[in-house]
Amino acid sequence: MPSFRKALVTGASSGLGRAICEELSARGAEVIACARRGALLETLVRDLEARGGRARAVELDVTSSAAVRETVLRADKDGPLDLVLAGAGVAEHSIQGERRADRTHQLLDVNLAGAVSTIEAGIEVLARRGGTVGVLSSLAGTRGLPGAAAYCASKAAVSTYVEARQVELSGHPVRLVDVQPGFVRTPMTAPNRFPMPFLMDVEAAARRTVDGLEAGHSVVRYPRRLAWPLRAIASSAPRGVWRRLLARKEPDEESPRRG
Ligand SMILES: NC(=O)c1ccc[n+]([C@@H]2O[C@H](COP(=O)([O-])OP(=O)(O)OC[C@H]3O[C@@H](n4cnc5c(N)ncnc54)[C@H](OP(=O)(O)O)[C@@H]3O)[C@@H](O)[C@H]2O)c1
Repeated sequence: MPSFRKALVTGASSGLGRAICEELSARGAEVIACARRGALLETLVRDLEARGGRARAVELDVTSSAAVRETVLRADKDGPLDLVLAGAGVAEHSIQGERRADRTHQLLDVNLAGAVSTIEAGIEVLARRGGTVGVLSSLAGTRGLPGAAAYCASKAAVSTYVEARQVELSGHPVRLVDVQPGFVRTPMTAPNRFPMPFLMDVEAAARRTVDGLEAGHSVVRYPRRLAWPLRAIASSAPRGVWRRLLARKEPDEESPRRG
């Protein structure tokens, strides 16, 4: 028996979301793959079906909470979901432009509001019979990093949101899983020109994610070699120490590239 029978994944057209769909399908789950780029989703569906899997593509922009809810409810009505994963996300460099506040709002609309819409729609459909709701947050939410203020804030916020909801859901049949990857080789990190310690292949990251979702852990952090020092040292370093450690040499330069 597969541990998940039917999964809905947002951010499925690319990178980690796509690899997670492949991993879930290989483990026997039917996959509802959601993102905005329908052509990429159709390619994924064909690939999964060619390997004997069952999958369907649904075009979805997660910044519309109504569309997210409708998509999740409809997918569940067609056959019960047991996993909903909020994978859609954008990095700082994909929203460059003149007005920093506007760009930040755009990023938060996807990474925070979009994730919350997906999480809550998942909880709604799984409330009675139980199941798993996951979110792709990030180790980048541990501390604020220069060049990635909006991204780090979005991931810190989503993990804090999940932490609070996990308390509210204790004794509830829905398992809420906060997945915090480190650096993963995907189109999101491809433009990065700074060192990415312990950069992982996307297939390994997908396996770690699905293992964590199956286990139903509250928080899944990987790779351990990065997660552990971040938790032990970075998260407790005083602000002044953190600022001195990461102070940029050219403070006027805009080089927002981070995954
Ligand atoms: N790569 C890393 O190192 C890393 C590390 C930690 C966490 N993460 C997180 O993992 C997730 C996947 O990242 P990735 O590296 O795989 O990036 P990616 O290859 O750029 O994929 C991002 C995915 O999000 C989707 N997306 C973006 N905006 C959307 C919107 N408004 N509505 C629906 N879907 C949207 C994209 O699909 P469309 O453009 O087709 O809509 C795409 O499928 C993100 O949440 C990211 O923050 C990544």
